[in-house]
Amino acid sequence: DLPARVRIHEVGARDGLQNEKTAVPAEVKAEFIRRLAAAGLTTIEATSFVHPAWVPQLADAEQLFPMIKDLPGVELPVLVPNRRGLERALGLGADRVAVFASATESFAKANLNRSLDESLAVFEPVVRQAKDAGAHVRGYVSMCFGDPWEGAVPLHQVSRVCTALKDMGCDELSLGDTIGVATPGHVLELLALLNEKGVPTNMIGVHFHDTYGQALANTYAALEHGVTTVDASAGGLGGCPYAKSATGNLATEDLVWMLHGLGIETGVDLDRLTATSVWMAAHLDRPSPSRTVRALSHK
Ligand code: HMG
Ligand code: MG
Repeated sequence: DLPARVRIHEVGARDGLQNEKTAVPAEVKAEFIRRLAAAGLTTIEATSFVHPAWVPQLADAEQLFPMIKDLPGVELPVLVPNRRGLERALGLGADRVAVFASATESFAKANLNRSLDESLAVFEPVVRQAKDAGAHVRGYVSMCFGDPWEGAVPLHQVSRVCTALKDMGCDELSLGDTIGVATPGHVLELLALLNEKGVPTNMIGVHFHDTYGQALANTYAALEHGVTTVDASAGGLGGCPYAKSATGNLATEDLVWMLHGLGIETGVDLDRLTATSVWMAAHLDRPSPSRTVRALSHK
């Protein structure tokens, strides 16, 4: 059975812009987020409180966050890699944060400069401190289906990281197919294993990349399994700066087209969202890779 409603976790302003070559001024990012909200998105990942040298595109987090933090009716999660990041975020009034783990050693090293277990040890007090401060905590797990250095990723390795994040107190998990290699059967196998290991479907979100054109097929499989939180990036912006071959987040417009076609509610106005991505594409000086954006904007 498919769900009646899906919550879209919009990542364009963070996962999208962190990987764009063009530097986007904070005012433009704020306007992007306002337009996403006006198009009906209610969970909009705003930025990252990471080391500015590691992700220069998001180095303006202190400037940006106060510009948008009081947008009505919108949740604005932000990424925090460690205690320093959490303190910066909480200091500005953030009430939803996300830690980001990896299912593989290679990506933990490349993305966080730590071994997998060292990175989990960093997250543990961060999650606790965030929960104590009353914040909602999301735990990302990258490279759940394949890794550019290690190849296939064993399912038990993914479930170990997922259960560790759950046991720390994360409210929600996001399963990342960072390089876009997953196929629907693989998705169903992972979801079944996670359930078996005590991770309920209602705390699982999915984060697909469209590198091999599988993102919507994978999403459909996850919906049939009962998943109701889906990550997507307006206009299909971005990838990940620390994973070679990580291109193409699932475009929010492509997702909304499929969901509305299935009669699933999202609260999103597709025309307004498409107009927002066309507007952003002009700032980035490159057309949106989203098929739906292209189709609707050339009608
Ligand atoms: P490190 O160099 O090991 O840091 O980097 P450190 O702990 O050794 O600290 C070194 C210095 O950095 C210190 O300053 C710290 O204060 C400072 P010093 O005392 O030398 O003057 N520092 C910070 N400054 C500001 N904000 C901070 C911070 N932390 C330390 N938060 C670190 C470790 C985690 C900081 C670094 O590796 C980092 O920032 N990594 C983030 C990389 C990133 O954001 N990647 C993209 C997000 S993940 C992703 O995109 C995948 C996902 O989207 C899912 C998918 O698409 O599949 C989620
Ligand atoms: Mg992504």
